[in-house]
Amino acid sequence: MTAPITNDPAEAADVIRRGGLAAFATETVYGLGANALDAAAVSRIFEAKQRPEFDPLIVHVARPEAVDELAVEASQAARALMARFWPGPLTLVLRKRSIVPDIVTAGLETVGIRIPDHAQARELIRLAGCPVAAPSANLFGLVSPTQAAHVADQLGDRVDMILDGGPCRVGVESTVVDLSGAVPILRRPGGTTLEAIESAIGPVQTATTILQGAAAPAPGMLDRHYSTRTPLRLWRPEDPVPMGRIGLLTWCAPAGDTRFAKVVDLSPEGDLACAAAALFGAMRSLDAAGLDVILATRFPETGLGRAINDRLRRAAARG
Ligand code: TXA
Ligand code: MG
Repeated sequence: MTAPITNDPAEAADVIRRGGLAAFATETVYGLGANALDAAAVSRIFEAKQRPEFDPLIVHVARPEAVDELAVEASQAARALMARFWPGPLTLVLRKRSIVPDIVTAGLETVGIRIPDHAQARELIRLAGCPVAAPSANLFGLVSPTQAAHVADQLGDRVDMILDGGPCRVGVESTVVDLSGAVPILRRPGGTTLEAIESAIGPVQTATTILQGAAAPAPGMLDRHYSTRTPLRLWRPEDPVPMGRIGLLTWCAPAGDTRFAKVVDLSPEGDLACAAAALFGAMRSLDAAGLDVILATRFPETGLGRAINDRLRRAAARG
């Protein structure tokens, strides 16, 4: 049976209050929500997504004061980031309080928290009366949903309700910054740029600098992720084009390249925000076009280009 789709946050809040699963729109991607303080409800998220339990969930709240119930005293840097970027596509990893069930954080001593910049999502959280744990509303490892129909396609028979909040404005997931240790660490590039974060709190370590220090990679940051069913490969314009029905995912592309059966130009004007907003929808439409291979060009490694490149690199990772 396919889940009902509603526009009414009160209906979806009822589902969450009763321990069910409601998918909902945020400004980044659709989330698959449950009461974050109810371990049984949260375990249904992992089941529905077929997500391994070592991958921690983000907890969504509607007001900054709710953070104090979930995390121990946020640092000055955390306060600065909340004031500057919330509501918005930024998740802060803080040391958790015991009220947060272990299943939410995959047993970690920290919890990721954010306030979404989507009025309907905040209304849902307010009406549910609890923090809402939500990963992206896709099957584990596949492309994240940016429209209610994407959720219905992949998880329609695994959720209790879908709250339709329209297409997602940002289109890539939140940036995850870990503030639980001595220095801030970028765990995942996303909708808030590293440049903006560093302008607010100074230098942030990135995964590359951490890996050089041989620390463990961030939990849940599996290399293979965001997979299309059609193989996707990173490609440079000077590389050869393979034989077969080939798709191209690019930006600012010259029109009419006959080597490709289908070309999706994420932003003819070269605007990274437009490109990010269109990325996952484009990956889905190329995946549905009966192609042998999807080639994807890299974006500049600045601003939102970092998040786009991260998703493309993971989509291209095999095995
Ligand atoms: O934009 C978003 O963040 C979307 C919407 C729905 O809010 N959510 C989302 O959730 O992308 P998900 O589960 O697909 O990705 C959450 C990622 C985890 O894979 C992990 O990398 C990181 O956030 N994360 C969560 N809690 C963490 C923690 N305690 N420590 C380190 N990383 C954490
Ligand atoms: Mg995800």
